[in-house]
Amino acid sequence: MSEAVRIGDPGPRPAFPGPWALPVDLRDELRARRRGPFPAGENRPSLRNTWRFRHDVLDLLRDCYERHGPIFGLRIVFGYNLALIGPEANHFVLVSGRQNFGWRFGRMGDLLTLVGDGLLTTDGDYHDASRAILMPAFHKERVRAAAAVMREESAAAVDSLPAGGTVDVYEWTRTLAMRIAMRALFGFDPDSGRAGEVAARFESGLSFHAREFPMQMLFGPGTPLARLRRDRAALEEMVGAEVARRRRAGADGADILSSLLASTDDEGRGLTDRQVLDHVLTLLFAGHDTATSTASFLVYELARNPEWADRIAAELTDVCGPRDPRPEELFEALPVLTRSVDEALRLYPPAWIGPRRSVRDFEFGGVRAPAGIPCFYSSWVSHRLPEVFEDPDRFDPDRFLPERRARWPRGAYVPFGMGPRVCIGKRFGYTEVHAIAAALVRRFRFELPARYELDVHQAPTLSPGGGMPVRLTPR
Ligand code: HEM
Repeated sequence: MSEAVRIGDPGPRPAFPGPWALPVDLRDELRARRRGPFPAGENRPSLRNTWRFRHDVLDLLRDCYERHGPIFGLRIVFGYNLALIGPEANHFVLVSGRQNFGWRFGRMGDLLTLVGDGLLTTDGDYHDASRAILMPAFHKERVRAAAAVMREESAAAVDSLPAGGTVDVYEWTRTLAMRIAMRALFGFDPDSGRAGEVAARFESGLSFHAREFPMQMLFGPGTPLARLRRDRAALEEMVGAEVARRRRAGADGADILSSLLASTDDEGRGLTDRQVLDHVLTLLFAGHDTATSTASFLVYELARNPEWADRIAAELTDVCGPRDPRPEELFEALPVLTRSVDEALRLYPPAWIGPRRSVRDFEFGGVRAPAGIPCFYSSWVSHRLPEVFEDPDRFDPDRFLPERRARWPRGAYVPFGMGPRVCIGKRFGYTEVHAIAAALVRRFRFELPARYELDVHQAPTLSPGGGMPVRLTPR
């Protein structure tokens, strides 16, 4: 572990979160412009591009990629951003050129008010030391323990569904994923008032990020920002009380909060209460919406492609008979289900954008780019490039057959990122989506309402705007 930062030290230096970073961005852009030209792109302010970034971002970025290639500028509102798109760009941002980019001062910093200094909003030694402490909580055996919770909660949630009728699958999955998080992350009884309050405060805090940009910039009482701060303060109090209770009791449960409280660095020093809180809220943020959206988008595609739902159902019957799959069966024994989950993650990777800030001048694909600029890679756009994925908008789980997959260039498929900062909860989230999908497909056929049109929202993660009504018929 580095000499510079130890667990227990104060957090990293403050950043301006959210739209208030705009003046800093403009100052840095002016400084960078004095040092040389910028990459080609959509560099002038454009109301149309700003609107499209919010409402039609996939096609906007695909159009820009066609026009300008894998690295281009894009001005949203007044803020300049640099996009790096495609397999090589993903590999560059995440692996070979990752030293050129930081997370905290990119748009990831927008999350600071809600989640504090967790893995998503820190860099360098502080991040690496924290990640090393958190890793044991995501080891195979820990996730297996959580998988038992996922299986039990999914079965109970499916049993509570009406035998026929239309259900908002997105809302249903969101409630289920929150119950799973409350048990697996905090060790809370999800039926207790305490768990309900934490969940409600967290959801309320999260809703800030779905507000339009100008609303997010307002200061003063009654604004969305004031509400966000109240939510964070309430979470600090509630989770803080639980941390204090656990420290007094000294009990080690199977949940992730317990393993955070028990973890120490090489010198036996543990996390402070504030660090535990920030990590737990970051995990809740990173894990809750992502799993919910993936399971919902998978159901959507299975409703449109019922032959795949039938193939998964047949596989489940072959392998498990009348019971839900055991944790160890989820990946190894159910390849059709796994390929379908992988394909849903290709078409709708919930963490669709990876925001960064360039920390030094760099060169990619023969194009020079300056330090101090907000940058991003995008799994979503990269997963939909026709030169990489044939017929890219079509749901085709068989493209994940090993012989077809072997032909993809490195960096082509990155729903969990890649490299040293690949999603720490990958096994957890992947297991959760498998468990939820298996429980649903085993019992129901899916059908979309006649005039339903999917409207993909993207703030902060991809989700079906207006929910996802699905007609369920027992198998
Ligand atoms: C289907 C589910 C999930 C998907 C698709 C997903 C996706 C991702 C992606 C793409 C990244 C990298 C972002 C970037 O490069 O900018 C990431 C990072 C991260 N994810 Fe996940 N995630 C999922 C579930 C989870 C779960 C369940 C947890 C925790 C309980 C979690 C915790 C994290 C954390 C803490 C990071 C930051 C890691 C670091 O920087 O060291 N994720 N995730």
